[in-house]
Amino acid sequence: MATETRRLAYAPYSGYQVGAALVGVSGMVYSGCNVENASIGLTICAERAAVVKAISEGESGFQAIVIVTQDGATPCGACRQVLAEFNPDMEVYTAMPDGHYARTTVKQLLPYSFTLQR
Ligand code: THU
Repeated sequence: MATETRRLAYAPYSGYQVGAALVGVSGMVYSGCNVENASIGLTICAERAAVVKAISEGESGFQAIVIVTQDGATPCGACRQVLAEFNPDMEVYTAMPDGHYARTTVKQLLPYSFTLQR
């Protein structure tokens, strides 16, 4: 699903396509791709696109995310923080189109993430 959605990426500026598939606790899977903008700074990463889609459809939590890029890249810092908001123990699978992948967790990618003490 991440590979399929990667093909939908809107990346005319970088040419770097990212596809994500986010597994919700409900069992539903939500896809996302990167959506770039001429102002560059307004670009939305695939991971955050998937999170926004899922939450706005009523999902309440996440177990895992699969991210497909040409080189198996790990999520950027902003996306790590957004994923940590929902589940630091979330499994993160970084994969390439040929099926090679690595597994890690959000906590491993972003130890000591920012949280509000409420
Ligand atoms: N990108 C993502 O979609 N996810 C990340 O975690 C890192 C970067 C996108 C943003 C931009 O469209 C392109 O990859 C190159 O930075």
